[in-house]
Amino acid sequence: MQITLKNLFQKKSFELTSKEDSKLNKTLSVKDLTLFGIAAIVGAGIFSTIGTAAHQGGVGVILLFVFTAISCGFSAVCYAHLAARIPNSGSAYTYTYIIFGEFLAWIIGWDLFMEYAVSNVAVAISWSGYFQNFIKGFGFVIPTEFSFFNSNLHIDFPAAAITIIITYICYIGIEESKKINNILVIIKLAVLALIIGIGFFYVHTENWQPFAPNGYSGIITGISSIFFAYIGFDALSTTAEECKNPKKDIPKAMLLSLVISTLIYVLITLVITGIISYTKLNVADPLAFVFTSIGLNMFSGFISFISIITLSSVILVYQLGQPRIWMAMSRDGLLPKIFSKIHPIYKTPSFSTIITGILVMLPALFCDINSIVDLTSIGTLFAFCLVCAGVIYKTRVEETSQHANTFSIPYYNSRFFLSIAIFCLIILGVYFDFDFNVLLLNKILVASILLISTLAIIYQFSLIPTLGLIFNSCLILQLPADSWYRFLIWLGVGIIIYFTYSIKNSKLRTA
Ligand code: ALA
Repeated sequence: MQITLKNLFQKKSFELTSKEDSKLNKTLSVKDLTLFGIAAIVGAGIFSTIGTAAHQGGVGVILLFVFTAISCGFSAVCYAHLAARIPNSGSAYTYTYIIFGEFLAWIIGWDLFMEYAVSNVAVAISWSGYFQNFIKGFGFVIPTEFSFFNSNLHIDFPAAAITIIITYICYIGIEESKKINNILVIIKLAVLALIIGIGFFYVHTENWQPFAPNGYSGIITGISSIFFAYIGFDALSTTAEECKNPKKDIPKAMLLSLVISTLIYVLITLVITGIISYTKLNVADPLAFVFTSIGLNMFSGFISFISIITLSSVILVYQLGQPRIWMAMSRDGLLPKIFSKIHPIYKTPSFSTIITGILVMLPALFCDINSIVDLTSIGTLFAFCLVCAGVIYKTRVEETSQHANTFSIPYYNSRFFLSIAIFCLIILGVYFDFDFNVLLLNKILVASILLISTLAIIYQFSLIPTLGLIFNSCLILQLPADSWYRFLIWLGVGIIIYFTYSIKNSKLRTA
């Protein structure tokens, strides 16, 4: 088959997508979706990786939480805008297929593996950390370090075990998954409220001084951890075909779960950095640790126990998300047909669910959490950038009247708002004697922001997705070079598969 630019950027029509007959059970309401959202967002980020971020940045990481929340807020609105128009399980993959064509859609579908499956590896490892600490309290130890032929091998059996259990739940049905998830999230919210309520009585405000002990660089080091904490609000869009009213409920649930989670994050950060000095927070279980350090051992044990339960809910939602993306890709012919096989009784994408389980379980057995967190953040930010870009493009071309009753991003002209914002920033910079040479320290970042802003002003982009693109670019360009290399290798592998298998089997051309 001849590969042409036309093939690469051929778009799937909106009509074709809406005709796809889903055999999945339509059972989710706005409440279930919001709880799925909170389940996916609030997890290892706040229970584990917040410790490292606060240790480096002090209470100042709160700024990073707010900045990241705003950035995710813009992206969430863009996801909601597209989800309201394209209620399909493929999420960002399907949106990109319709807006930018097949090649970019494949890239995003391939990239989403970073967000769902790779995130789950990190969460499973974090779950195992809490689990091992908890059972140690009762005198049980599960060995994780082994010697093979004079070399040491790290094997994390609990991380693998929780992955298998959750995969089984996802396999047997969305209804079962929903019920279990709702219970887990309600417990999670109750305990976090308790941590905030009790914790505030032990806060010593002097611990919040200095606000940023290691300056800007200390705060920004935590970027992967903080962004990781927010990942997940988009996961619920992968359940679109199992919702009773996806066009209305998904946008509502996405924004609601993001707002609730942000509130929780800011309060928890204030509590843990207020109870003890940030210098002591470099631990795997910071929430339990701060309460042990003030002598509340029983409460600390209780937090560990609840963390075990609640981290399971994060794994559950991502184990649901990944197979549904593959199912959508397989329906389009970009992955083998078996990936879209639906179980005749359980009505779940059974084969994809099992493969997800295996691909999460194996790295969870052997990997370390930090490298995984960086990788998952870069993969997710890349998807967010494309979704924002998609909305910018779509709001320029679509007939908004067709969607009068669905959630829509209001159009504000970037030309007007961005010009004023840039003008004000320059005036303020001159007035406060800002050293503009600082901008040369991160030339790629500054050049990207200038490029996006210039295009936005010239072509009058819609303001909200443009700000989403600018904020997400700021975050992704701060990630370490190592993560970029690994990410590019991953995309390289994806591109090889696309050109050797997917392009030849795409339904757009073979149908
Ligand atoms: N946001 C998810 C968590 O923190 C990945 O566990």
